[in-house]
Amino acid sequence: MKQNSLQYSAITGTGSYLPPRVVSNDELAAELAQRDIVTSDEWIAERTGIRQRHLAERGVTTSTLAAEAARRAIEDAGLQPGDIDLIIVATSTPDFVFPSTACLVQDKLGIKNGAAFDVQAVCSGFVYALTTADSFVRAGRSRHALVIGAEVFSRILDWNDRSTCVLFGDGAGAVVLSASDEPGILAAQLRADGSQTKILCAAGNVAYGEVVGDPFLRMDGQAVFKQAVTVLDRSARDVCEEAGIAVGDIDLLIPHQANLRILNFLARKLDLPADKLVVTVDRHANTSAASVPLALDAARREGRVQPGGTVLMQGVGGGFTWGSVLARMTATKR
Ligand SMILES: CC(C)(COP(=O)(O)OP(=O)(O)OC[C@H]1O[C@@H](n2cnc3c(N)ncnc32)[C@H](O)[C@@H]1OP(=O)(O)O)[C@@H](O)C(=O)NCCC(=O)NCCS
Repeated sequence: MKQNSLQYSAITGTGSYLPPRVVSNDELAAELAQRDIVTSDEWIAERTGIRQRHLAERGVTTSTLAAEAARRAIEDAGLQPGDIDLIIVATSTPDFVFPSTACLVQDKLGIKNGAAFDVQAVCSGFVYALTTADSFVRAGRSRHALVIGAEVFSRILDWNDRSTCVLFGDGAGAVVLSASDEPGILAAQLRADGSQTKILCAAGNVAYGEVVGDPFLRMDGQAVFKQAVTVLDRSARDVCEEAGIAVGDIDLLIPHQANLRILNFLARKLDLPADKLVVTVDRHANTSAASVPLALDAARREGRVQPGGTVLMQGVGGGFTWGSVLARMTATKR
């Protein structure tokens, strides 16, 4: 690949896409009641902050959502699809075992150049993918990288398990990360603890022509909750220290949107006021790898991301994995 001499990467465009079907807690509760599964808007909203989720229709796959979010991000960056020389898709619900969803997105966008691959780090996937793209750009191996988080988690939920099926939704978010002579990505940290695999997993696979093991998402909710608040707090402090920025000086905190209680607890631990916290879990539920770029794009559309402002993006999820990316936003078209 052509090398360039630019030293930094910066987010130059964002985009997102949600499937049009919105299912409220009341609608979901009514649907579950038909199978004698008891839940309510009150329980879901009080324990999680979730009010609704978007669910993809049958046949709509991760690559479809991802390509739509990507088109919007490329347009927002003022680029053409042909300018993209790297595509990284973070997903745990790929269209196929192979080829990668990134290759399918590349084809949907009509891009013929560059590299395309998937990253699998569940709900930390987007920050893993963004950090990977940052390394490519800083090394001169990419000039305009497309980084996408996209999921159809509705496909791996056990719709008879009320403790998990009410928590997730489908969607996609994307950013364009471009070579820049000004620092955009200021600091990043990725971490994993494989000894915690069992607290959040979908431990099935395809072998000998059939699904082997349990194909559904399983979770120890309380263990995940405790881990999430601990690692997100530590990781936020670490990246701020690396960038030489006081935690209190961050302009916007965008943690993985899993649960409003986790978000509020984290903001309190970091001593950040509520107006610095981006919350979309009420509207989107937990969209796994898509949640952070969806929330970033929503915050930009709401005018909450100012040029020169700092945004701390954080992922946490299965693996157990977590990570943070601290970015200074550049002036973009929107
Ligand atoms: C999942 C979570 C909302 C559950 O909340 P909780 O306060 O821990 O609730 P518990 O699991 O202790 O369950 C409490 C009760 O509610 C019941 N319950 C579980 N799901 C329910 C639902 N959808 N509706 C009604 N009741 C429900 C349980 O059966 C239990 O009943 P019991 O007391 O009679 O046994 C919470 O643990 C959580 O958010 N964890 C983090 C999950 C997460 O963020 N995952 C993604 C990370 S990427």
